[in-house]
Amino acid sequence: MAGRLRRATTTVPCCAVPPRHAACRLICMLVSPEQAAFNQTQVQKRSDAVANAICSAIPDSERLAALDYGCGPGHIGLRLAGDFRRMFLADSDPDAVASAADASRGLDNVSSLVLDLSIPTALPPDLRVDVVFSCLSWHHVRDLDHLLDTLPIIAPGGRLMVVDMDADGGAYHADLPGFDGVHGFDRDELRERLTSHGYTDVTIADVWASQKWVAGTLTDLSLFMLQARIPPVPPPT
Ligand SMILES: C[S@@+](CC[C@H](N)C(=O)[O-])C[C@H]1O[C@@H](n2cnc3c(N)ncnc32)[C@H](O)[C@@H]1O
Repeated sequence: MAGRLRRATTTVPCCAVPPRHAACRLICMLVSPEQAAFNQTQVQKRSDAVANAICSAIPDSERLAALDYGCGPGHIGLRLAGDFRRMFLADSDPDAVASAADASRGLDNVSSLVLDLSIPTALPPDLRVDVVFSCLSWHHVRDLDHLLDTLPIIAPGGRLMVVDMDADGGAYHADLPGFDGVHGFDRDELRERLTSHGYTDVTIADVWASQKWVAGTLTDLSLFMLQARIPPVPPPT
C-alpha cells in the first residue's frame, strides 16, 4: 500500500489558491509568510499520514466505493482515489467542491458533489458507498446526530473512519472569532454518542500530532482516528 501513487492537491490549508473564503484570506493574513509555509507543509504531511492510515485499515479498498465527507479541496479523497474503485468527494461548501472538482479532473472514478448530511435534504439516489471517511470536518458539523442517522442510508453496514481534533479549549480556532463549531471532541463522549445511534465496533486511536501557527502562536494539534461499523439500517423515523 505504501508504494501506491497518491495524488496531492493544493498546498493551501483551506479552499483554493488564492483562498476563496473571506475567513481563509483573513487567516492567511494573520500569519507571516514563513508561518504560512510551515502550516501548509503540515497540512501536506497530515494529509499523507491520514490517507495512509485509512488505506492501511481497509485492505480490500480496490473493490469498494468511498465517500470523503467534508472533503474541502480533496486533500484526503484525492490521495486515496487510486486505492478505491469509486470515490465521492462531498462538502457542504460549493467553493470547496469546485476546488475538489478542479483537482480531480481526469480521474474517471471520482465524482464531486455539494452535500450536507447534517440537515434534512434529498440524497442523490446513486450515492451508495462501502466506506465513509472524514478528516477535520466533524467539528464543523452543527447537527452531528442527524448526520449519524443519515449515514446508514448511504452506507448501510459500512465502515466509518473519522479523523478529528481532540478537545483543545479553542486554541486551534483562536484566529476564527466567528467559528461556530466545536473545539474538538472528548473521545469517550464521542464513542458513547456513536454507540447510542447504533454504531458498533467503535475504536479510537491517535493518528497525528503536530503544530500550527495560529495568530502568532505555535499551537499543538492532536488528532484521533475513530473507526466504527455503520448501522445496517437507518433508525425508524
Ligand atoms: C477543515 S476543512 C477539512 C477539509 C479536508 N477534509 C482536509 O482534511 O483538509 C473542513 C471542511 O468541512 C466542511 N464542512 C463543514 N460542515 C459541513 C457539513 N455539515 N457537511 C459537509 N461538509 C461540511 C467545510 O466546508 C470544510 O471544507
